[in-house]
Amino acid sequence: MKYDFTTILRREGKDAIAVDMPTNYEGNYGKVKREEGFDVIPMWVADMNFPVVDSIQKAIIERTNHPAFGYFTPRDEYFDLIIKWQKEHNGVDVRKENIGYENGVLGGVASACKVLMSQGDSVLLHSPTYVGFTGTLLNAGYKIVHSPLLKQDGTWKMDYEDMEKKIVDNKIHVAIICNPHNPSGRVWSKDELLKAMEIFEKHQVYVISDEIWADLLLNGNKHTPTQSVNEYAREHTIAVYAPSKTFNLAGLIGSYHIIYNKWLRERVLKEESLSHYNNMNVLSMYALIGAYGEEGKQWVSELREVLSGNINFACDFIKENLPGVNVIKPEGTYMLFIDCEEYCKKNEISMDDLILKGWKYGVYWQDGRPFHGEYNIRMNLALPLSRVEEAFKRLKEHVFD
Ligand SMILES: Cc1ncc(COP(=O)(O)O)c(C=O)c1O
Repeated sequence: MKYDFTTILRREGKDAIAVDMPTNYEGNYGKVKREEGFDVIPMWVADMNFPVVDSIQKAIIERTNHPAFGYFTPRDEYFDLIIKWQKEHNGVDVRKENIGYENGVLGGVASACKVLMSQGDSVLLHSPTYVGFTGTLLNAGYKIVHSPLLKQDGTWKMDYEDMEKKIVDNKIHVAIICNPHNPSGRVWSKDELLKAMEIFEKHQVYVISDEIWADLLLNGNKHTPTQSVNEYAREHTIAVYAPSKTFNLAGLIGSYHIIYNKWLRERVLKEESLSHYNNMNVLSMYALIGAYGEEGKQWVSELREVLSGNINFACDFIKENLPGVNVIKPEGTYMLFIDCEEYCKKNEISMDDLILKGWKYGVYWQDGRPFHGEYNIRMNLALPLSRVEEAFKRLKEHVFD
């Protein structure tokens, strides 16, 4: 490997909620003290424990060498690199006018909702659901109608009948598609997206497609942009992308939308101009420029290999060593959504206690219940393999013991 995915990155004191964990926890789950000799293994919030590709720091540092940071308009290079990235990675032809800056993907989702819904309207989402959607939508006064994904043939599937019924029953005209899907890790196929789109077209449903995970594909899986599946999708979908998840830049903020339909685009741009908050930071522009070049491309290709290895290791380990714990192998993202129902019931342990037990031994995993997994725990595997191995060793010896 050309890039470093093995050194353990110490993030303590470096502005990272991932590792800001108290040794003594007291809160909603109960009380626990981390055992001595067990350091924190950050496996919850969705950022990575790898250093960024050099070209990102280089671009930012070069810019900071110039001592003026006044008002600016985004450089052509910014748009050109997004256009190139989208062509090379997603096979789509995007034009400059289709691209618009977003202060975070959730910010883009919120603006899109304002264009497409009135307060009190219902929006269709799959469940399990990324917890960020829940907060963003409920806070803004929308109702969420969930269509549960089905566990079928060893994978997660959309339930088209249920989706259609809920759209009709609740007079729904907006659906959010998370593609790839967090937390299940499904990478939706063209056929699956097409089937959903046929229902959306039939009932005049607009789509907000969150594609923040589009680059993080495992074991050779391929991403299909939601807008690319047919003409209806192209004209009725607001897609939101970002380099933040792919390149570990969440703290710099900086996402973008792709909207082909002129009316829709102009409505979104108008809506997000109203707050005066949706403005790019000059350093986040340089972060994207550093990320979306040739080096970034090679780095992502190695990252995918590393993440695939971690996910494969973890899924095999669970199968062989953790009876009562089940997992559907994700096709994308770096998240595992492990199902502990069998284990909890058999061992008469509550989810709260199980979560605390992990924390006691430094495995900082995340409660899956806010993602609508009654017995699920979400685990971030974007760490050097040695750390993932250590975490699963602790789980076997001390947690699922
Ligand atoms: C599906 C999805 N959308 C959006 C976000 C958050 O994006 P942002 O920080 O750009 O709002 C995340 C973060 O984990 C995510 O998983």
